[in-house]
Amino acid sequence: MRVLGIETSCDETSASIVEGVGNHAAMRSLVILSQDVHRIFGGVVPEIASRAHLTALVPVVRRALADASLTLADVDAVAVTNAPGLVGALLVGVSFAKALAFALGVPVIGVHHMEGHLFAASLEVEDAVPPFTALLVSGGHTMLVDVPEWGTYQVLGRTRDDAAGEAFDKVGKLLGLPYPGGPQVEQLAATAGAPSVRYSPPMLRRDQQPGTSDYYDMSFSGLKTAVLNSVREKTADGRTMTDDERSDLARAFQDALIGTLAGKTERAVKAFGRKRVVVAGGVAANRALGDALRKRFATSGVSVIAPSSRLSTDNAAMIARAGLYRLDRGERSGLDLTAYAAQPLPGVPHA
Ligand code: KG4
Ligand code: ZN
Repeated sequence: MRVLGIETSCDETSASIVEGVGNHAAMRSLVILSQDVHRIFGGVVPEIASRAHLTALVPVVRRALADASLTLADVDAVAVTNAPGLVGALLVGVSFAKALAFALGVPVIGVHHMEGHLFAASLEVEDAVPPFTALLVSGGHTMLVDVPEWGTYQVLGRTRDDAAGEAFDKVGKLLGLPYPGGPQVEQLAATAGAPSVRYSPPMLRRDQQPGTSDYYDMSFSGLKTAVLNSVREKTADGRTMTDDERSDLARAFQDALIGTLAGKTERAVKAFGRKRVVVAGGVAANRALGDALRKRFATSGVSVIAPSSRLSTDNAAMIARAGLYRLDRGERSGLDLTAYAAQPLPGVPHA
């Protein structure tokens, strides 16, 4: 089956063709158009995002088809992100996908954006299939999920405030870096010498017990405030921070955040006896995170799999792949498919 995937949940307009059956799926093309316009505002402006998707979507889909040397007649189904995300932005993709599927006489399937992220690594790495522990770290969500099989997701913990990517973006702003701050903070942290500042990894204490929510839950807003206080201290009396001071703060922030992510992931891996960790979402592109996880599991035979940077951040290939899985099971959406700002992961067992 050949699936056209469409992703418009935030500020990337993306289309992709994925072809295959079951666990054998290959990406034939992927086009991602990032909306740079939001940089001017230091964050995503929803109304502008919707309008930009509207202008970009048709050419982006045309290009995805051309890159795969296919035409619309070769499309067997359309998969589209319908939740969670910015509703106006999502609706552009959903309306387009439904109209196209109707016109072509093929099925349409709505895909949960975070389920899409779970499938991203499987497009590149054969082993990135369940059972695994998933660390989903994006700009809007941060979750630790046990995945015994595709479609069954047990959310073990989540952030109680800021998502990991959001924390990167806010700290980037505090350090005077352009939006989105994640990659920039990573680059700045890489230039730091021996750390002169340290923050402790938030919500990670030895006395936390399995069965209590703080065992797997996370929180990053206090860490962001700690960075803010350091910035205030260092810029008191109108002083400007030196490059070394800025890189030190970036490094201390990143170390603490990674400490929490790695510590919580290790708990989940041990509790469920998984042999694979799949990292997904925009922050999965962070090399220091991947390195820290690999180091932590180096002697335990647990492999750590993170997609390439292109498939870590928002893209339609992961949506087409997750859609393919759902279509394979006979699932279809109706033409009443709509968009939701928030929605729980599908197939989550009730606690
Ligand atoms: O998954 P994604 O593309 O969009 C959402 O679904 O939110 O994630 C975007 C987030 C942004 O917060 C961005 O700063 C962060 O991922 N990000 C990174 C890196 N690359 C992207 N954070 C840390 N290090 C990176 N290299
Ligand atoms: Zn995402």
